[in-house]
Amino acid sequence: MAEPYYITTAISYPNGRPHIGHAYEAIAADAIARFQRQAGRDVRFQTGTDEHGLKMVQAARAEGRPVAQLADEMSGYFRDMCDALNISYDRFVRTTEPAHYRASQALWEAMAAKGDLYPSRYEGWYSVRDEAFYTDAEVVEGEGGIKLSPQGTPVEWTVEESWFFRLSKYQQPLLDLYARDPDFIRPDGRRNEVTRFVEGGLTDLSVSRTSFDWGVPVPGADGHVMYVWVDALTNYLTGIGYPDADAAERRYWPADLHLIGKDIVRFHAVYWPAFLMSADIPLPKSVFGHGFLLHRGEKMSKSIGNVVDPQALVAAFGVDALRYFLLRDVSFGQDGSYSAEAIVTRVNAELANSFGNLAQRTLSFIAKNLEGAFPSVGTAAEADGMLIEEVVVACAGLRAAFGDLALSQGIETWMRGVFACNQYIDAQAPWALRKTNPDRMHAVLRTLVRAIRMLAIAILPVVPTAAAKVLDQVGAEERDHAAIDDDGWYERVAASGFRIAPPAPVFPRLELPPEAA
Ligand code: MSP
Repeated sequence: MAEPYYITTAISYPNGRPHIGHAYEAIAADAIARFQRQAGRDVRFQTGTDEHGLKMVQAARAEGRPVAQLADEMSGYFRDMCDALNISYDRFVRTTEPAHYRASQALWEAMAAKGDLYPSRYEGWYSVRDEAFYTDAEVVEGEGGIKLSPQGTPVEWTVEESWFFRLSKYQQPLLDLYARDPDFIRPDGRRNEVTRFVEGGLTDLSVSRTSFDWGVPVPGADGHVMYVWVDALTNYLTGIGYPDADAAERRYWPADLHLIGKDIVRFHAVYWPAFLMSADIPLPKSVFGHGFLLHRGEKMSKSIGNVVDPQALVAAFGVDALRYFLLRDVSFGQDGSYSAEAIVTRVNAELANSFGNLAQRTLSFIAKNLEGAFPSVGTAAEADGMLIEEVVVACAGLRAAFGDLALSQGIETWMRGVFACNQYIDAQAPWALRKTNPDRMHAVLRTLVRAIRMLAIAILPVVPTAAAKVLDQVGAEERDHAAIDDDGWYERVAASGFRIAPPAPVFPRLELPPEAA
């Protein structure tokens, strides 16, 4: 039985339509999920929408419509976005599902049974935008005396009857966890921030609200709904069948990776493990806080008018081009910036002119000059073995880097294999060999077909549709897609009589859309 691998994205607030930041997270998680599937893991990939809380209530009120209706509509757009981006999720959790109520209430009861929940009264700052409580010391004064959270979002003074979770009790266990398992929070910088925050002291957390009713009811406490982050975090358990002890999906717990943005690391690396410790549930193995995506270096916001619908970018550039750009251009873990020019430049240089061109010129040459038949062994030269070696190293480098979540670095390493092929093709000049030394031409083309297959397999998690087309063009069937190693592949396909058809270009050159120029 393959080893399980459970990866999750954050679940997004469906208070508006998805933007490129949401798309970025989904794409990164998808590439990791596909990579782990290739590596033979039994992958479970979960995403969804976080539909409760005051932010949703206020968004619905502003639009003058019922909150459930807003959630239904917007959640649908998030699902559509996943489809448009070719996101291979196994489960899309909506926190308004009955199964999620059951999971959240079961977790609540487990924490209550531990004696970690008690009723009291909350008095303090609350940011609806962040759905977060802040202490006096954290709140700063903005323009016109407006009180702001450290994230720069408005906070309001809130006084309310509520249940509390004994977070303070978990201060030392959390610090022990971070020290014992440095991979629990990644990258390092985020772990340092969280450690400092926890070292500064934890106060108990208000975990229920009484001033509105859009949430999961607290068991046995009329008028209380759970604080939205309590139910939101529980989604990771809902999707694997909690609290049913014998649900088949329980094999996926503990999660291998919660992939989230840097703004919500505190919730995942402090509150979530504390809740789980309280409920005696094993902890996830890792929380990775990726950076923020900016537009031309600026924060995206409705008021600046630079919020772009990810589906418009897919329409303009194609899904694989967008995926490639985001994973290649942004150093994973850090903030990154995008613009139409940057997408066009990167994709044309690396996909269209380098990998695409390599495949295109090799395969069309074979189609034209060998009637598509696989080149024979021909006369080998040292350069052939060296090229294959370089390509194998580049593909293995991508895989090692992806295993460490160094996505951009992995693609950069892969590109070295592509460049090596292009140098090889120029140096060997098969078009000249056609007349002077056809045996040598065969060996060169054969080497290139093998190299193209390896490079396409390695890059499948990043550009699944386009890489699969290249693999189809060289007759590599799905079952062959996982291993880089040839293992007699070439000879099998050659013997099968497969012919390379005149290939349609898989990585078209992009033009800058007129409105972006
Ligand atoms: N609902 C919470 C998460 C609950 S998880 C149990 C939430 N939702 S969100 O819609 O605001 O954000 C969803 C994810 O998108 C988060 O991981 C967030 O960091 C990420 N991003 C939101 N804007 C982003 C960018 N501009 N760039 C990259 N990621 C960003 O937080």
